[in-house]
Amino acid sequence: MNINGKAFRTIWVKSDDEKVIQIIDQRYLPHQFITEDLCTVDQMATAIKDMHLRGAGLIGAAAGFGIYLATLEAPKDNSFDQFILLAAEKLISTRPTAVNLVWAVNKQMEAIRNVHHISDKINIAFNTANEIADSDAEYCRSIGKHGYKIIEEISKNKNGATVNILTHCNAGWLAFVDYGSATSPIYAAHKKGINVHVWVDETRPRNQGSSLTAWEMEQQGVPYTIIADNTGGHLMQHDMVDLVIVGSDRTTPTGDVANKIGTYLKALAAKDNNIPFYAALPSSTIDWQMEDGIREIIIEERNGDEVKYISGLCEGEIKKVLLTPVNSKVANYGFDVTPARLITGIITERGVCAANKTSILNLFPEKK
Ligand code: MRU
Repeated sequence: MNINGKAFRTIWVKSDDEKVIQIIDQRYLPHQFITEDLCTVDQMATAIKDMHLRGAGLIGAAAGFGIYLATLEAPKDNSFDQFILLAAEKLISTRPTAVNLVWAVNKQMEAIRNVHHISDKINIAFNTANEIADSDAEYCRSIGKHGYKIIEEISKNKNGATVNILTHCNAGWLAFVDYGSATSPIYAAHKKGINVHVWVDETRPRNQGSSLTAWEMEQQGVPYTIIADNTGGHLMQHDMVDLVIVGSDRTTPTGDVANKIGTYLKALAAKDNNIPFYAALPSSTIDWQMEDGIREIIIEERNGDEVKYISGLCEGEIKKVLLTPVNSKVANYGFDVTPARLITGIITERGVCAANKTSILNLFPEKK
């Protein structure tokens, strides 16, 4: 997608040095555009854990490149495989909810498992990391193609009047390698001249909505309005929302969707107001081993300081301020699970389906 008119991805191999992976450091957005060079698997693990980069698809791509960096760093002797195994464990332990991370690490481990020569393992890890990143971008582009039809239909029913779409957190291109999941249909519709307007939930505590989604919308020229997290229900009661599209960090084949904390409440309000609620996700976000999202998906608990402090621009500098009594106890659950019964449909790279096992498996018959 474009930044000041120039096309960017969120992660890439440095053009003049294949041993360096570059990322957009999202901690500084929307105020500063800063890129970071990552040269070791430890640096990649820190970038994932401390959210220099974030979002399910991007975490997956980063983990793929993390294994590639590990192959460069590993001793070139018979301890090579052990080093890679430890690197894989380190990457997987960084963030528990987004399944794309494990998916990407497993893909890398599969690819290099039976390769004999270390130099071949390095080449294969490099190619596999690039394939993971490219397929993430391609999946998201296809999600846009399929999800676009939902917006087009609503626009026709409204005789071309603005389609108001509510989204939560950042399931935009910053959460993936390119395009985004929830935002991809919106970008596609906007590009085709459909009038869209996006209600952007600020998404406490880290505010990925007001800092990242808002910045993305601005860069792409899509009309948007930031709302405090609790506003959605009111807007829905007053016909100010036509459609909700969210992303996902892990989805079960039965259609339960884990996404940023607060998504479940939006789904309940949408159901109560007969507003279509879609989750947009690439198949790399489906955890084919799970059946019951509420019981089985591990919900990440993050540092309470994310709730207690808020950061923003103050006299030209990014500053952090305390919002609460110093010693307040805080709970910081990162995600919640929206049960399938509240979801109108799932938008994937292969098309749109109902949020149930039969429909999902019809799109992905190889998983039956
Ligand atoms: O904690 P984050 O920012 O990595 O959370 C992931 C998300 O951006 C959202 O939950 C998003 O809606 C999922 S789509 C990648």
